[in-house]
Amino acid sequence: ATNMLWGGRFTGGIDPLMHKYNASIGYDKALYKEDILGSIAFARANSKVGIITEDEFKMIEHGLLEVMEEWKQGTFAVMPNDEDIHTANERRLGEIIGKDTAGKLHTGRSRNEQVVCDMRMWLRDRIREIDSQLVAFLRVLTKRAEAEIDYLMPGYTHLQRAQPVRWGQWIMSHAASFKQDLERLRQVFERVNLSPLGCGALAGNVFGIDRDAIAAELGFSGITLNSMNTSGDRDFIIEFLTWNSMFTNHISSLMPNKKNADSLELLRGKSGRAFGQMAGLMMSVKGLPTCYNKDLQEGWEPMLDSVQTVSDSLGIANGVIATMTVRPERMLAALDKTMLATDIAEWLVRNGYKLTLEQLQAIDSRFKADIAEAFEYESSVEAKSARGGTSRSAVLQQIQELHAILD
Ligand code: ARG
Repeated sequence: ATNMLWGGRFTGGIDPLMHKYNASIGYDKALYKEDILGSIAFARANSKVGIITEDEFKMIEHGLLEVMEEWKQGTFAVMPNDEDIHTANERRLGEIIGKDTAGKLHTGRSRNEQVVCDMRMWLRDRIREIDSQLVAFLRVLTKRAEAEIDYLMPGYTHLQRAQPVRWGQWIMSHAASFKQDLERLRQVFERVNLSPLGCGALAGNVFGIDRDAIAAELGFSGITLNSMNTSGDRDFIIEFLTWNSMFTNHISSLMPNKKNADSLELLRGKSGRAFGQMAGLMMSVKGLPTCYNKDLQEGWEPMLDSVQTVSDSLGIANGVIATMTVRPERMLAALDKTMLATDIAEWLVRNGYKLTLEQLQAIDSRFKADIAEAFEYESSVEAKSARGGTSRSAVLQQIQELHAILD
């Protein structure tokens, strides 16, 4: 007597638990549109090399657009045997245009290339959206930095109040990290936005299909280099997850008053989740045999979830920065004269005094009247006028430089 739970695999039937365990339709259906557009482009390319006739292509295209409409309207009925979005769409296409013609869609194509095509298309479009969200967020930051440039506050080092800085300089210290995140994201985009179609299961396409034409139709900026690599490669997802780990780390340190509103604590908490997703997928792909292995299906959920998380986090962070009220008088009150110690030292250097220990310990009679100026917070920050510093002109220049990559 076979224990069905474990024996099912070996006696021919599929155990219901295995069926559920194996299926990805529950989440990959989110990419129905990409899957259909990829199929249309592939069918068109097949018609160009004579694998299917022009009429067959028209039927396939028409049928696929109908399937797309069903998903859009919410009337697509997922069947128990629909393992993933690729098999579901093809099954439904067969019902609409007949199995014979529908089956030709898949000539020369493998689910191995199809799945990465869907993922790459979807992810590059999401990266575009995240790019605009990040740009909007950076604008909120620079707007505040500029509008409230007069506010002074203590800058910390080793958790100690150390030197007066402009509030705008503090904002720009975070904007500087987000600027690099934006640049990195744009680099990740370049590697995500490559078409895998025409790579087959692993060895390539025998019908001389035009990979570049497919890529152009789908808005890819190029094609992947090698068919074997293409079928087993999920680096493009890991790169995004790595980007997200670093990005959420930056967003989690954006806690201006450490009073920790729920929104800010959640933003901080998400960084653990982002890093976990990156590390998790990294472990899943570690030591895999070459080309496609089902382990790679594990890339879906972290990809989908991380995109949602980063997009929501950006929305929240944007709202927090845009709407929070700051208290310049409290910032100013947090400053005290001990934070000007380095200004006195710098005044001495500027004026060419070399002090002995004894001299430093006594009150020095050579202090001139303008030493008083060094005691002023405003002139302290204005003195830091070299590029990147906290003087008004230096902060405004940072804002200008950042705008150059936003526009
Ligand atoms: N659902 C699968 C995935 O996400 C699609 C690829 C399946 N290919 C295969 N040879 N079983 O990875």
